Amino acid sequence: MIRNRQHGRPTSLTRLRAEMPEDIDAISKLTTAAFENTEHSSGTEAAIVDALRAASALTISLVALENEEIVGHIAFSPVTIESGAEAWYGLGPVSVRPDRQGYGIGKMLIESGLAQLKQNGANGCVVLGDPGYYTRFGFTSDPALRYADVPAEYFQRIVFKGPPPTGAVAYHAGFDA
Ligand SMILES: CC(C)(COP(=O)(O)OP(=O)(O)OC[C@H]1O[C@@H](n2cnc3c(N)ncnc32)[C@H](O)[C@@H]1OP(=O)(O)O)[C@@H](O)C(=O)NCCC(=O)NCCS
Repeated sequence: MIRNRQHGRPTSLTRLRAEMPEDIDAISKLTTAAFENTEHSSGTEAAIVDALRAASALTISLVALENEEIVGHIAFSPVTIESGAEAWYGLGPVSVRPDRQGYGIGKMLIESGLAQLKQNGANGCVVLGDPGYYTRFGFTSDPALRYADVPAEYFQRIVFKGPPPTGAVAYHAGFDA
């Protein structure tokens, strides 16, 4: 295990790739461990990832590896938006193994996932989470775009192309897991 903190960066041995079938158990365990002690956890994040996969709604699923061990994971899935905008996606769940948090692995996963989404032709992406974290990736909140009764600042979006969508956003049914 590499524990040397390199100015907040992942180690040079951290690499990303798309999930493979043999990663599924490790992703589930990692997701449970990452969210275990977070106050905003629903406790269902691992089940959500599994439900999205089962519904072929894991548009992007990336793992971060160090010494062939999975230390991070990020999922993206389609969302629907009241104004009818197409090719919009939701970021999350995103998980980094507790002992590897704060080393830039989340940043690697988010930046790479967003770049892939954009390259695949997505128009934009939404995220539900701490605004202090996600604004650094270009997410901003828009009072015209809402998710349930979540306060506006906790629900953010990044537009890749096209007009900013408006109205209520619905995540994939896998999030009801
Ligand atoms: C959130 C998470 C994915 C971030 O990954 P990470 O590899 O730890 O984050 P990074 O190293 O890329 O970024 C670290 C920076 O983000 C900040 N940060 C990390 N998690 C944060 C959070 N939940 N809210 C606000 N800031 C956060 C750190 O303070 C640090 O700030 P700094 O760069 O100014 O020092 C990871 O901490 C995690 O798995 N947390 C538990 C699960 C979770 O909350 N997932 C997100 C749900 S919205």
